[in-house]
Amino acid sequence: MSKLIIPGEQSFKGSLSVSGSKNAAVAVLAASIISGTRVRIENLPDITDVRTLLEILQQMGSSVRRRGRNTVEICTASIRNNYAPPYDLVKKLRASSYFMGSLLARQGKADVPVPGGCELGPRPIDQHLKGFSALGANAEVEHGLVKLRSTHLRGAHIYMDIVSVGATINLMLAASTAEGRTVLENVAKEPEVVDVANFLNAMGASIRGAGTDIIRVDGTRQFQGAVHSIIPDRIEAGTFLMGAAVTGGELCIREVIPQHLDAAMAKLKEAGIEVHTSEDTIWVYGKGDLSPVDIKTFPYPGFPTDLQPLAMVLLTKARGTSVITENIFEGRYKHVDELKRMGAKIKVEGRTAVVDGGETLSGAPVKATDLRAGAALLVAGLAAEGETVLSGVEHVYRGYEKLEEKFAQAGITLKWLREESPERKKDLREHR
Ligand code: UD1
Repeated sequence: MSKLIIPGEQSFKGSLSVSGSKNAAVAVLAASIISGTRVRIENLPDITDVRTLLEILQQMGSSVRRRGRNTVEICTASIRNNYAPPYDLVKKLRASSYFMGSLLARQGKADVPVPGGCELGPRPIDQHLKGFSALGANAEVEHGLVKLRSTHLRGAHIYMDIVSVGATINLMLAASTAEGRTVLENVAKEPEVVDVANFLNAMGASIRGAGTDIIRVDGTRQFQGAVHSIIPDRIEAGTFLMGAAVTGGELCIREVIPQHLDAAMAKLKEAGIEVHTSEDTIWVYGKGDLSPVDIKTFPYPGFPTDLQPLAMVLLTKARGTSVITENIFEGRYKHVDELKRMGAKIKVEGRTAVVDGGETLSGAPVKATDLRAGAALLVAGLAAEGETVLSGVEHVYRGYEKLEEKFAQAGITLKWLREESPERKKDLREHR
């Protein structure tokens, strides 16, 4: 595991640009299989999750050409008859589950390892499987593999029992080649769902209503090449927003869609932070005195669960008691014990966390257990007195591009704890 030394009492100052959205990128890459020809994807973040997916596409027979750091051209013509993405790579990221929808759409078959539970708790895929079955596929789980088979996908009316980003995208993918019309009800409205729908439409699909509660897909077999630019990463932008607020910084966040962060900005303003926006820029001015606020996570356009750990760090600075309710992932409080090691006063009961704020955090050795928990601890370390040593940094590199470079642009210094072991050096190289 690689470790990062975070000198405390630093604040974000200056300006930085946001990269392409991780969650949109991972779905778009899997979706590229459906075209069966060449697509060009721009504004693709250069992060470990994306590199893993590109490797999977390559191992399955696609040609992948990088055109600069953030553009790739992928030709998926020759992956015909390959319906089993390689296990050792697939297991590295949950987003590999999008290969279920895209391979089913293209080949009528998919063998994809069941995505297991994770640090956030159990991650069932019942809504994905229910939808695939409704479209006429035979869906079975055998020896840890999801086996999907279909000779003829047919449009269907599917009501989702749970609002799920992953199931919404997977069913859009599968329905894109099904005969006739599919109506998906109670779907996720996240901007990433809209981005994937736009990409599929650019390749020839006919998808209407993405971004609302109901999506209609008219299936087709006529697909073509496309050029698509990934939307800005609202969670990365939200990380910088929270980071500037926590550290009392002043930051200009560029190349962002401010509207995607309405819920997060509303909560920051409630806490007393000054935030201004223009068409593609957010300015945030941190302040000393913060008011406590209550936060409940919800599907978009509600407050995003991915920003909950960062919001919790902010609330440790507010004078008074704040209550957080985590409605999406019950187990998403793994960062709490680490924050407590830094002096935070937080009590968790079930889905509720009560934060007694107003204390100054103090640097400590802490461990990132997942991507956003890692980002939250990183930001906490910057605001703390003294030095924090963050281990498990590889989780953070799954989702943040050019982390050190961007932090340096905003006046933040991070140091790597280098160790002699060649294995560790390799690990560091891979994640930098
Ligand atoms: C995506 C995001 C993740 C984000 C989450 C919620 C990606 C790669 N990841 O994850 O960053 O935190 O949305 O915004 O885009 N559920 C079921 N059955 C299912 C599917 C989901 O019960 O078949 C439940 C989940 O356990 C969870 C809730 O629905 O409690 C929402 O999950 P979902 O929206 O599917 O999250 P992901 O797509 O996995």
